[in-house]
Amino acid sequence: MLATELDLPTYDHLDGVTGARFHELLDEVASQSWLARGATGLAVFDRETCNALLRDRRFAFPALELLQLQGVTSGPIWDRTVDGLMVQSGDAHARLRRLLMPAFTPRATERLRPRLRELIEALWAPAAAAGECEFVATLAEPLPSQAIAELLDVPGDAPDLARWSVLLQEVFKFRLDETGPAVEQAYAEVRAYVFDKLAQRRRAPGEDLISVIGQTDLTDDECVTLVCSVISGGTDTTEAQLAHGMRLFAEHPDQWQLLVDDPSLAAQAVEEVLRYEPITPFTARIATEDVEVRDVVFPKDTVVFICAATANRDPQVFEDPQAFDITKPREAAPLTFGFGAHFCIGASLARAELAETFSYLAPRVRDLRLAGEPVLGSPTGIYAVESLPLAFTSV
Ligand code: HEM
Repeated sequence: MLATELDLPTYDHLDGVTGARFHELLDEVASQSWLARGATGLAVFDRETCNALLRDRRFAFPALELLQLQGVTSGPIWDRTVDGLMVQSGDAHARLRRLLMPAFTPRATERLRPRLRELIEALWAPAAAAGECEFVATLAEPLPSQAIAELLDVPGDAPDLARWSVLLQEVFKFRLDETGPAVEQAYAEVRAYVFDKLAQRRRAPGEDLISVIGQTDLTDDECVTLVCSVISGGTDTTEAQLAHGMRLFAEHPDQWQLLVDDPSLAAQAVEEVLRYEPITPFTARIATEDVEVRDVVFPKDTVVFICAATANRDPQVFEDPQAFDITKPREAAPLTFGFGAHFCIGASLARAELAETFSYLAPRVRDLRLAGEPVLGSPTGIYAVESLPLAFTSV
C-alpha cells in the first residue's frame, strides 16, 4: 500500500491551536491511527514508529527542500545549510559529530554548571526584588545565549550570539524574500568572528568549543558552519523549553510545591517538562528512496512529520501519560531531543540549563502563579512562549 494513496485520518485542523487543546486534538488523531495526513504532509504519532523513522538512514532531514520551497538554491544561506550537521548524513555526519562531541559530553557540561548558576542568579535578582516578572525576557531568553557564550568562552559576546541566532533561525520561517539579506549579513559576520577566534585559540587553546574544533582537521569554513549549528540550535529551543517549564509549574502549583520541598527532584522535573511539553512537537523527514514501514510504502521524496508531542504521551509506553507528575519515574526518555544519528548534540547542556534554573528557583520562589495569560507561539516550528507573566513570593 502506498502511504500517499491511503484513506487516512486528517490533522489539518490545528492552525492557531495551542496549549491543552493542541494536545487533545493530536492525541485524538493518534488514538485513531499511527499515520495521518495534515495540510503539510503525512505524520506518524506512536513512539515506536517515530523511533523507527528517526533511526532509519533512508529518511533524511528536508532542510534543503525547505530552502528550495523558499526559492533559495545557491548563495551563502544554501552553502551553510548544505554543510550543516542536520543535512549531512553517513560518514561525513559521523565525522562532524565526533569532532564536536568533546565540547558536549556530560562532563564538559558539568564544568559549566557553577557558571550557569551565577548567570541565573544575576538574571533573577531584579525579579526576586519585585515579586513578579515576565519570565521570558527575565530569564528564558537571555540564559541560552549566555550559556553558549560560556561554551565558546566568549562571555561578553552573548548579545551578538543572541542577535545572530534570531537571524540564523529565519531560514525556517518562510519569509526569506524579506529577511534574506539580513540573514546573509549575519552569516558573513559569524564567519569573520569565528575566523578571528580560531586564530586566537590556535595560539592559546583552552577547553572551549572553538579551541576543540580549531585543533581538528576541519577547514575554517567547516568550523564556522558548526558554530552556526550550535548558535541556531541552542538558543530559541532552550528559551522555549525553559518558559514552557515555568508555565507548567505555574499552572500546577502542587508540582512546584513538590520541587520546593525537595529541590533534588530538579533533574526528574526536567525530564517530565521535556516529556509533557516538547518544544519541538514535530520534526520532519523525507524519504530518499521508497521505504516500507509497517506494510506501508513511503515513496521517494515523501515528507513525513514525526510527532514527539504524541510519542511522549503514548499510552503503550507511559503509564498515566496525561498527568504532569515530576515524582513519577517514567518508562522511557522523552523524544524531545530526537533519536538516532541526529539526536540533539546539546541535550546535556539544555538539561543542565533547565535543572539549574529549577533548582535555583525552587528554594527562593513560593506561591508561584500566573499573573496574566501566557502568550504562546505556534507549535508547528519551535513552540515558543512569547510572554509569561509570573507572580510569586520571594524567600
Ligand atoms: C530544550 C532544548 C533543545 C531541544 C528541545 C532540542 C531539540 C533538538 C532536536 C529534536 C534535534 C533533532 C532534530 C531531528 O532529528 O530532526 C536537535 C538537533 C540538534 N541540536 Fe538541539 N535542542 C535543544 C537544545 C540544543 C542546544 C543547547 C544545542 C547546542 C548548544 C543544540 C544543538 C543541536 C544541534 C547542533 C543539532 C543537530 C545534531 C545533528 O544533526 O547531528 N540543541 N535538537
